[in-house]
Amino acid sequence: MIDSLDLAARTDALTIEDLRARGGLKWTSVPPGAIGAGVAEMDMPLAPAIVAALHDAIDHGTTGYLPPALAAGVSESTAQWQARYGWAVDPADVHPVGSVVTGFRILLEYLTDPRAPVVLPVPAYMPFLTVPATAGRELVTVPMKIVPDGPDGRDRRYEFDLPAIAAALRPRSVFVLTNPHNPTGRVFTDDELLALAEVVDNAEAMVFADEIHAPLTMPGFTHRPYASLSAITAGHTIGGTSASKGWNIPGLGCGQLILTADDARAAWDGLDPFTKHGGGVTPLGAVATIAAYTRGADHLAAVVDYLAAGRDLFRAELADALPGAHLFPVQGTYLGWLDLQGVPVDPATVAERVGVHGVDGAHCGMPGFLRVNLAMPHPLLRQAARRLGLLAAS
Ligand SMILES: Cc1ncc(COP(=O)(O)O)c(C=O)c1O
Repeated sequence: MIDSLDLAARTDALTIEDLRARGGLKWTSVPPGAIGAGVAEMDMPLAPAIVAALHDAIDHGTTGYLPPALAAGVSESTAQWQARYGWAVDPADVHPVGSVVTGFRILLEYLTDPRAPVVLPVPAYMPFLTVPATAGRELVTVPMKIVPDGPDGRDRRYEFDLPAIAAALRPRSVFVLTNPHNPTGRVFTDDELLALAEVVDNAEAMVFADEIHAPLTMPGFTHRPYASLSAITAGHTIGGTSASKGWNIPGLGCGQLILTADDARAAWDGLDPFTKHGGGVTPLGAVATIAAYTRGADHLAAVVDYLAAGRDLFRAELADALPGAHLFPVQGTYLGWLDLQGVPVDPATVAERVGVHGVDGAHCGMPGFLRVNLAMPHPLLRQAARRLGLLAAS
């Protein structure tokens, strides 16, 4: 078993060349020598339980279409994992889908009213800004508020702008709730979620609760599944989740929709089988997901420890190297959200100027910001902060 120390030592030892040789998208899509901090993949070793389960599946030739036993295993293990957050999910409400974004598309096309708008707080995970149009849906973006944070009020964090959300919602609108939030790093509190629920309920709208980053909730914060808060939230929610972020298996193709709203359950039951299995849940994805949810908790704990230490290191290094930048508190996810307006620099030019390839905030609906993936070896995080520091001089 990999403990925290092993995981940290093994990850710390990885060089840019090692990571490029591994062949992942994050490091091979940037020039040699550059820092890949865009694509949401992690550099830590894969959980041994997942490695063993995948080898076993390959040895058995489990490479055909998804068999019912594996589909049921995904539903049961997802429900089992959600119990950690105090949510008693009926496995019959959990439906494997190819990915969370595929699930979102299914929801837009088949499970919700096509005439009702999608309401999205921004900044947001990039596909949420583009996918609604491909499903013929109207998109209304609502900027989040920035409020003071921290003991002395000198830090800043994002909150929902509830009056603006209330003004945007229509009956049967789909409000997109990402929690923990990509890219702002927020883990929303019960009070915030309940206040949001009241606004959604008053508007007779519904919620797509994307909780894919829940396993990556940082120490000191608590993830609460939105649908678990009350009968009202359960009644208006379609949940989307996956083991793909927490255990770094997005390429294997397995997400989960959790349907607790009666009309969404009925709409799902009416779908043809090919749409239900749309987007290709793979047997290897199912095998890895079951291993993650049932035997991956210790490994995840080591990953979260490493991420939290990396976040703290990056924050300290960046404060020295580029004091004009502001890193929002990373309460969950491994994504750093940097306000570069005080530097000032156009985030679209950062990669070319200093070789740190993040995501331009404009793609998240918020120009002037940069999203930086912090799930990399700590020596490279230090290097990333120092390279960003060169922006001050350029
Ligand atoms: C909030 C959020 N939702 C969904 C996804 C993508 O998940 P999937 O690969 O299962 O579509 C990501 C990936 O980074 C994400 O951050």
